[in-house]
Amino acid sequence: MNKFYSAINIKDESELKTFAKVSGVKLTKLKYYSKEMIYPHKEDLKKILLATEQSEIEFKLKLGIVDNKIKEFLANHSSEISKFFKQEPPKTELVEIEPVFQTEKGKLFQSDCIPLMRSLPNESVDLIFADPPFNLNKSYESGVNDKLSKEEYLQWTEDWVMECVNLLKEGGSLFIWNLPVWNTYIAEILNKHLTLRHWIAADVKYSLPIQNKLYPSHYALLYYTKGEKPNVFNTERRPLEVCRHCGGDIRDYGGYKDKLNPMGINLTDVWYDISPVRHSKYKTRTSNELPLKLLERVITLATNEGDTVFDPFGGSGTTYIVSEILKRKWIGCEIGPIETIKERFNDIEFHKGVLDNIDDSKNILFSDATKKLRKKNNHWLPETLKINNKEPRENLPTQVELFPKA
Ligand SMILES: C[S@@+](CC[C@H](N)C(=O)[O-])C[C@H]1O[C@@H](n2cnc3c(N)ncnc32)[C@H](O)[C@@H]1O
Repeated sequence: MNKFYSAINIKDESELKTFAKVSGVKLTKLKYYSKEMIYPHKEDLKKILLATEQSEIEFKLKLGIVDNKIKEFLANHSSEISKFFKQEPPKTELVEIEPVFQTEKGKLFQSDCIPLMRSLPNESVDLIFADPPFNLNKSYESGVNDKLSKEEYLQWTEDWVMECVNLLKEGGSLFIWNLPVWNTYIAEILNKHLTLRHWIAADVKYSLPIQNKLYPSHYALLYYTKGEKPNVFNTERRPLEVCRHCGGDIRDYGGYKDKLNPMGINLTDVWYDISPVRHSKYKTRTSNELPLKLLERVITLATNEGDTVFDPFGGSGTTYIVSEILKRKWIGCEIGPIETIKERFNDIEFHKGVLDNIDDSKNILFSDATKKLRKKNNHWLPETLKINNKEPRENLPTQVELFPKA
């Protein structure tokens, strides 16, 4: 039941028109408040409270809006209020779910991820990577409903996110890939339980330009840790960005060229090098496959060999194939068909080749091809500048200072 309709004492949308007339609030505004779960603006609020004869606190509580004043009241009266709640029964008996596919390192379950997570031991996983459906009315092979109301989607999201929190070990990391708008809500849930390390923006254009809006150009990748510090943080360094045609600098490094770390540039929280999967061999028809590079980076960053990785939304199994190749244990889950995942494991050698190439392009200032191009066009190279490899990097200016604005 839509919370907003309940709060204004109507049953469904058909009664909204009458309510608009009675209250004097525009129908379009009422639709907006209910669909987007937005608290009515002041003048509309007054009219709604008058028409429904209730106090603002009652209205807020009906909408589930708990501001700091209400929180304080609840905290001060927790003992009396808690008596209104029945004792939660212990978690229903755990369902035994059998894996449908196994490899040397991993187990894949064909299941709804929520019961599966409940059946796994609490605090048993080192890394969770989740790429859920975005509620964009996409059609998935599994037939899951990808057009829930905002309220339903957020309720479902809270349910699986909280299971992830339970499953994560102390010091373990949770990454959630989603549209920025959904990750604002997920961050609000997670901020109460885990420590935010980064909101990573992955620069990937994912829709056509939309009128009256900025061109959507990044996915949000939330990165949280259970507890204060991650157990593992293996960051990588990236090559310097250069002109694709001549290999020349595209930024002005001022007098700092010779101070650049020959192992490359620090990885930042804006990732420009995650391109959508284009390879015909890779792009399975329906699975919304993520690039191997993204999973290679996340898994390497947050785990060591032998650690356990879990991904509740398998799709084509990108997380699982990367985990297997990088020698991590993995637990997989997909509610729909799992044939694509199995097929990927038949092709593991091909995927290993791609990961090798990714590995070769890390922790260097220039690739061999770039070096050749720069040499040809007389651009500086570490050896021509005699980069001082012995100087401790911590004595160098920060990266911001290394890239003064032109
Ligand atoms: C966006 S895709 C994940 C793609 C994946 N990251 C990849 O690289 O191939 C989301 C997947 O989650 C699955 N899914 C949706 N709801 C689920 C649920 N409740 N439990 C398990 N899987 C679910 C869908 O069938 C779909 O394959």
